[in-house]
Amino acid sequence: MQRHGRPPGLGVVLAGNNPASEVYVRNKLKTVTEAGCRAELFRLDVEASIDAALALVRQLNENDAVDGILVQSPLPAGMGADAEQRVFDTIDPLKDVDGFHPLNVGLLVQKRQALVACTPLGCIELLERESIPLRGKHAVVIGRSDIVGKPMAMLLLHRDATVTVCHSRTANLAEVARTADVLVAAIGRPAFVTRDYVKPGATVIDVGINSLTARAEVERCFTEGSRKRAQFAEKGSVLVGDVHPNVEEVAGALTPVPGGVGPLTIAMVLRNTVTAAELRKDRGRAV
Ligand code: GUN
Repeated sequence: MQRHGRPPGLGVVLAGNNPASEVYVRNKLKTVTEAGCRAELFRLDVEASIDAALALVRQLNENDAVDGILVQSPLPAGMGADAEQRVFDTIDPLKDVDGFHPLNVGLLVQKRQALVACTPLGCIELLERESIPLRGKHAVVIGRSDIVGKPMAMLLLHRDATVTVCHSRTANLAEVARTADVLVAAIGRPAFVTRDYVKPGATVIDVGINSLTARAEVERCFTEGSRKRAQFAEKGSVLVGDVHPNVEEVAGALTPVPGGVGPLTIAMVLRNTVTAAELRKDRGRAV
């Protein structure tokens, strides 16, 4: 971590107080710090203007002690509909640990060296560590977001999978999903992918993390007497992915929620922070 004379530094921007974002940011800061990097949190008030967010990003761009910048999404609604795009466009591409800057997105599409979005990178790491073959396999990604669906499709394509990207307007979604050898669910809808979406033996990656508070939904997802039902009775909420838990009975492998993709996303924030520090040492070489 000290090869370049100082530990890599990450600046995290958190605007507002979205409870899920608070948890994600805390976990990112903890992981990066525990690995020996420096990580600093920069908070903006929920009422802060888009100009304040842009000014903070520019300041971090200029700060030589900061190798990586991560602006947690979503930004407060008051910053405007195009706030995220404007903020991500302003981050120095060499410090863009989320890989959201259009330059990094373009480099990824062309299979060139780039900083790549952390969640898709984490999914690939899971697949590779489990030796799940991708070459010539059919990978179906449900979800077309800039954060997960699109970069995920590119990474799978670059590993020689045949990739289909599905979304809310896809006709016969279950039928298409059922042809997948590798199915990635990133739609943000609780337990959306049910058994009829999954070919027996398929590998299923569940990117979703949804908090259930409605009893009927909890009862649809979890069987009577299960630990999750007890957790709901105690806390009034319980986490479920985008994949129904009983998909486990048909899938060859299924990532758990929580404890599946989430920790890998955070590990990739750490990896990208180190990569960004190395890229900056050689500014101009890669990008
Ligand atoms: N919000 C949800 N996922 C992400 C992510 O990977 N990066 C950032 N910056 N915000 C997010």
